[in-house]
Amino acid sequence: MLSYRHSFHAGNHADVLKHIVLLRIIRALQQKEKGFFYLDTHAGVGRYSLNTYEAEKTAEYQEGVARFWQRDDLPPEVADYLAQVKKVNYGTQLKHYPGSPLIAANLLRAQDRALFTELHPSDFPLLRNNFKQYENVTTKRDNGYQQLKAALPPKERRGLVLIDPPYELKEDYDLVVQAIEEGYKRFATGTYAIWYPVVLRQHVKRIVRGLEQTGIRKILQIELALRPDSDQRGMTASGMIVINPPWTLEAEMQAVLPYLVKTLVPENTGSWKVEWITPE
Ligand SMILES: C[S@@+](CC[C@H](N)C(=O)[O-])C[C@H]1O[C@@H](n2cnc3c(N)ncnc32)[C@H](O)[C@@H]1O
Repeated sequence: MLSYRHSFHAGNHADVLKHIVLLRIIRALQQKEKGFFYLDTHAGVGRYSLNTYEAEKTAEYQEGVARFWQRDDLPPEVADYLAQVKKVNYGTQLKHYPGSPLIAANLLRAQDRALFTELHPSDFPLLRNNFKQYENVTTKRDNGYQQLKAALPPKERRGLVLIDPPYELKEDYDLVVQAIEEGYKRFATGTYAIWYPVVLRQHVKRIVRGLEQTGIRKILQIELALRPDSDQRGMTASGMIVINPPWTLEAEMQAVLPYLVKTLVPENTGSWKVEWITPE
C-alpha cells in the first residue's frame, strides 16, 4: 500500500522541524573538508509546488513554512533554513517548497555524494527528473530500508542517513529500528536521523524502546508539539531522533525551538523537548 503523497503535507510544521535539523547536521558535516555521503531512504519527489490542488486542499504549509516567510526576526538557524526555501522561489511569494533531497543536493560540494530512494511508482519518476542534472546525486526506485544494508558503509566513511517514512503502515515503527541496527552494524560512526509523527504516543515509545534495546549510545530526541498528546486522531507533534548527532546540534536546537514553537503555535498550546534517549 503506497497511498501517502507528501505533496499534501510539504512545508508543514513537521517539515520545518525536520528540515532545520537536517540542515544543521549537513552544516556540521561540512565543517570538514573531507566529503560525506547523504542517504535519503524515503525521498519523496524533492520539490513541491504549493499552489497545486494537493497543497491547497490541506494548506498545511500555511501553518508551517509560511509563518516564517515575512518575518524579520529570524534566528540564524531559521534564516539558514529559509534561505534554502528561497533558493527554489524566484519571486517574493512562497510558491515552491524543497523536500529533504533538494535541500541537501543544493548544498553538496564536489567531494560530497548523495543517494535518494523512493518506492512510489508515480513519485519516483518525478524524483529522478528533478535530480537528473545533479552530478553527485543518484536516484533509485527501491525500498529505502534496504539501502542501510546495500549502501553502507560509504567509501567516504563519513555520512548522514535520513529515514523519513510515511508511517501509513504500523510496521514502519519497527522497521526504522531494524534499519538502524543494520546500518549501525556496517557504519557505526555515521549519523542517522529518524523522523517520527506523534499520533499515538505508544508508537513513539515503541521506537524509543527498540533503540534502547539495541545498546547503541548517543541518541538524541528532538520534538516539537502543537498541543499535548491525545488519543483523538491527528498528529499533535513530530520529532527527530538523531544517532551520533554533531556535538553542536543539542545546543542549536535548544536555542531555536522556543522561537519555532512561539511562531508555529501562536495559540500557546505548544511545547518542545531536546533529550538524550541514551547519552555517550
Ligand atoms: C514523508 S515522505 C518523504 C519526504 C521527504 N523525505 C522530505 O522531507 O521531503 C515519505 C516517502 O516515502 C515513500 N515510501 C514509502 N515507503 C517506502 C519505502 N519502503 N522505501 C522508499 N520510499 C518509501 C513514500 O512514497 C513517500 O514519498
